[in-house]
Amino acid sequence: MDLPLPQFQKGWQIVKGGVPKDVLKFRDDLPVPSELPKGHVLVKVLTAALNPVGYKSMSLPSFVVKRPRIAEHDLAGEIVLANDTEFNVGNEVFGLVPAELSFKTGWGSMQEYAIVPAEGLVLKPSNIDFTTAAGIGLAGQTAYEALIEIGKLEEGQRVFVNGGSSSVGTFAIQIAKAKGARVDCSASANNFDYVKSFGVEQVFDYHAKPLEQQLIEAHISPPYNIIFDCVDATVPLFVNSAKYLAPNGVYVSTGPNVHDISGLPKLLHAVFRIYWPRLLGGVPRSFKMFLFKSEKYKLQYLADLVSEGKLKPPVDSVFAFPDLPKAYERILSGHAKGKIVVQLL
Ligand SMILES: NC(=O)c1ccc[n+]([C@@H]2O[C@H](COP(=O)([O-])OP(=O)(O)OC[C@H]3O[C@@H](n4cnc5c(N)ncnc54)[C@H](OP(=O)(O)O)[C@@H]3O)[C@@H](O)[C@H]2O)c1
Repeated sequence: MDLPLPQFQKGWQIVKGGVPKDVLKFRDDLPVPSELPKGHVLVKVLTAALNPVGYKSMSLPSFVVKRPRIAEHDLAGEIVLANDTEFNVGNEVFGLVPAELSFKTGWGSMQEYAIVPAEGLVLKPSNIDFTTAAGIGLAGQTAYEALIEIGKLEEGQRVFVNGGSSSVGTFAIQIAKAKGARVDCSASANNFDYVKSFGVEQVFDYHAKPLEQQLIEAHISPPYNIIFDCVDATVPLFVNSAKYLAPNGVYVSTGPNVHDISGLPKLLHAVFRIYWPRLLGGVPRSFKMFLFKSEKYKLQYLADLVSEGKLKPPVDSVFAFPDLPKAYERILSGHAKGKIVVQLL
């Protein structure tokens, strides 16, 4: 049976293009939807989490993203309208409003009652709380897609994660370990203990000297089967990769860390260096850049790993709902170790 719902709700809207501190507006008069499109449910959001796409998309032009639009995508909460889906009212779930859907509809996760496709949700494992579950959806699926679907990771293989302390990186390390792979990564020296707590063997300090130089000097043997670059499309790391990536290995990248249009020259340079043909002296290794696609089976894979105790979703910090601007300051620092979670509880 559906629960009685209020008429209005609180939420954070993006009202114009720009950076978080200038474009976010707290509203307490947003209507609570009572009718939902087929295949969608209404979730009472208890926790929501930030991702880089959340602030990067704020500066996109309004012909690409709808405005006003509710901020962010990841969430955890309870089903309040099940709308003839596989869910029941009261189910505890986590997942996301995918970015492409949010751009079209204006829906998002930073509000008390969110419309979410049933495909974007799975039941929350009982061994984690809502705060821990909030940030699994986007970063977890990205790591899954990179290693399992693109990298075709197998037991016993070797993986290098560039950006081991990042959210995506921390999910990747744990997914790789659960698959029986050996994992090395890059991180700042002060994060060595953190990444090692997830089972990383060798950590390289990316501030010490160029990473490609460190990997060449380390004589990686056998070479890596997958390099997963989740902090940038790091051109020198790929250009030199024949020295530490197996001939049939793959360099997988989440893409260049471009915040706005000013990053375009860097992007073009990276594309030119990376995709220069092998026949003309290009890099003799495979390079795959991807945009993850949200799918229920990926969320379920992550939920199962959590239930089995093989995946501990990383939480960097927790903010109260009215403090969303402070949460954005934290993610914009670039130094978070895991997810930044906002509590609506
Ligand atoms: N293609 C896709 O579908 C997709 C999906 C999700 C995310 N992404 C992208 O993937 C990137 C990572 O996202 P995220 O949520 O994981 O970010 P995040 O958690 O905010 O990343 C911050 C972390 O990255 C580390 N870091 C930054 N630069 C580094 C470097 N050069 N080497 C090693 N570590 C570094 C920082 O460590 P220090 O404090 O030590 O610097 C910090 O711990 C973002 O650019 C995001 O837009 C793409």
